[in-house]
Amino acid sequence: MNFAPPNLERVALAAPAMSESPELQRDALIEGRCLSKQYTNDRGQKHVVCSNISVALRKREIVALLGHSGAGKSTLLRMLAGLITPTDGQVFTHGQPLTGPAPDAAMVFQSFALLPWLTVIDNVQIGLERANLTRSERKARAQSVIDAVGLHGCEQSFPKQLSGGMCQRVGLARALAVRPQALLMDEPFSALDVQTAQQLRTLVIELWQQQREGLSSVLIVTHNIEEAVQMADRILVLGSTPGRIVSEVAVHLLRTGANRAHTEEGQRLVRRLYASLTGALSTDEACSIRLTESNDEPQKPDSEQEN
Ligand SMILES: Nc1ncnc2c1ncn2[C@@H]1O[C@H](COP(=O)(O)OP(=O)(O)OP(=O)(O)O)[C@@H](O)[C@H]1O
Ligand SMILES: [Mg+2]
Repeated sequence: MNFAPPNLERVALAAPAMSESPELQRDALIEGRCLSKQYTNDRGQKHVVCSNISVALRKREIVALLGHSGAGKSTLLRMLAGLITPTDGQVFTHGQPLTGPAPDAAMVFQSFALLPWLTVIDNVQIGLERANLTRSERKARAQSVIDAVGLHGCEQSFPKQLSGGMCQRVGLARALAVRPQALLMDEPFSALDVQTAQQLRTLVIELWQQQREGLSSVLIVTHNIEEAVQMADRILVLGSTPGRIVSEVAVHLLRTGANRAHTEEGQRLVRRLYASLTGALSTDEACSIRLTESNDEPQKPDSEQEN
């Protein structure tokens, strides 16, 4: 089934040619160039999930990868994380080809992926096993990130004793413990209730603003448009069948502490992205979503942004 609405195809015509940039981006922490992923089923039929996608996560930014279910968001994220190998194309970190899991990145999963037989502090320390740290250094590092995510006092609890929101705080702490420059999050809040999800979005933004544990950039996969508008500096819209980036939207709304998606300008952007994703926009309207070159400087913080 083809989920790609026709308007997104038209937006794609106006999008910057992100896949044709000849040089690696100098400020990119992770950069995928011309990434494709294809699976072959038992009957030998080929299924192209991602096609010729070029994308960079630069220093000091939050990027949202927005798209329909099945568009290939997780596949793209996993290629960028070095967890799966692209069929074509190459991933680079700091300008060097990636040959395994990205060393300066950590993943946060929708399902939390905690080990049920380990306590909170042991779950958090798990990524530190190969780090060149003494036992007490590992414990101190784990305690620091547990405190940072608001779980002080829960160190000896087991996952089954925690709420979903607390489990995801553990997932976040475990990722932060390895001091990643890039946090790669795959629908991290979609299993949580509205209020808890909102608390955790705010927490991630704060941790990012504080550059906690050296955190520089966040790439979040979502199909929640408001989440993308609230959190991201750039939104990459993924079209489907096969997955490819069909538009890039810069979000120049101020970070005031309040939910940017609930401001007037934020709501306008939400409506436009929604209409674009559902194919409800006219061609002209769809193309009027502001598409930016990758090196655009932020402009005005509020009005006149996406006209
Ligand atoms: N290991 C695999 N083998 C075969 N097909 C796969 C594999 N992984 C993913 N796919 C297929 O690739 C397509 C995209 O999957 P992916 O998980 O990347 O989508 P998604 O955008 O993350 O969707 P969702 O929002 O539902 O998580 C789907 O059709 C899926 O069945
Ligand atoms: Mg997914």
